Amino acid sequence: MSKQLILALSKGRILEETLPLLADAGITPAEDLSKSRKLLFDTNLPDVKLVIIRATDVPTYVQLGAADVGIAGKDVLLEHGAEGLYEPLDLQIARCKLMTAGVTGQLPARARRRVATKFVNVARRYYAEQGIQAEVIKLYGAMELAPLMNLADEIVDIVDTGNTLRANGMEPRELIAHISTRLVVNKAAMTMKHERIKPLLDRLDSAVKKRQ
Ligand code: ADP
Ligand code: PRP
Ligand code: MG
Repeated sequence: MSKQLILALSKGRILEETLPLLADAGITPAEDLSKSRKLLFDTNLPDVKLVIIRATDVPTYVQLGAADVGIAGKDVLLEHGAEGLYEPLDLQIARCKLMTAGVTGQLPARARRRVATKFVNVARRYYAEQGIQAEVIKLYGAMELAPLMNLADEIVDIVDTGNTLRANGMEPRELIAHISTRLVVNKAAMTMKHERIKPLLDRLDSAVKKRQ
């Protein structure tokens, strides 16, 4: 295994908050990420590279060892399963909640509840644990539209301020999990590249604590 360190970062809202933490840990991209169509970036450190990918692909890259370290939301990790990964650090950014939600004042009447979500594994597990029969419908976004259009009775989605729910005549119901961004590490890399990964974890941990 090469001693180069590959970090897989989630593009989107997590990236903006990740870069200052990485900078505090001594890692800065060699060029402006927002001005490039590249996906693989050099950094100020010759042995550290960044890949910027879809959040949902981060656990896959790290699990299969294409990246040594990844940064992704706990929601994405729960949905993926994230077997074969260590999750040593909570970066405490992009905090939100994974919840069920439905049309305001309208309790689900159907015996077999139709649930629209992109988190199908989490939703199946959650409703099974609650002893509620659910037909889980996979969507890729705009879950808040599904009950309005009578596609579903309920959704499972991220809630932060609750503005998106309110704007669509919906209300939060049950909390499934508190969510924040986590740092994950490939299990083999944690052993093979420990002397390189350990100081990175320590510096990121200090950067996180400094912000609390
Ligand atoms: P996607 O395009 O997959 O929705 P985002 O960039 O919107 O990705 O979200 C990335 C991560 O940020 C999510 O996996 C979740 O952990 C967190 N997140 C999503 N929406 C919010 C929100 N409204 N407020 C805070 N954190 C959020
Ligand atoms: C996220 C999430 C909710 C919304 C919740 O959507 O999927 O729709 O934020 O935040 P709120 O409670 O503060 O309104 P996002 O803005 O990421 O849009 P997208 O994922 O559908 O692109
Ligand atoms: Mg989003």
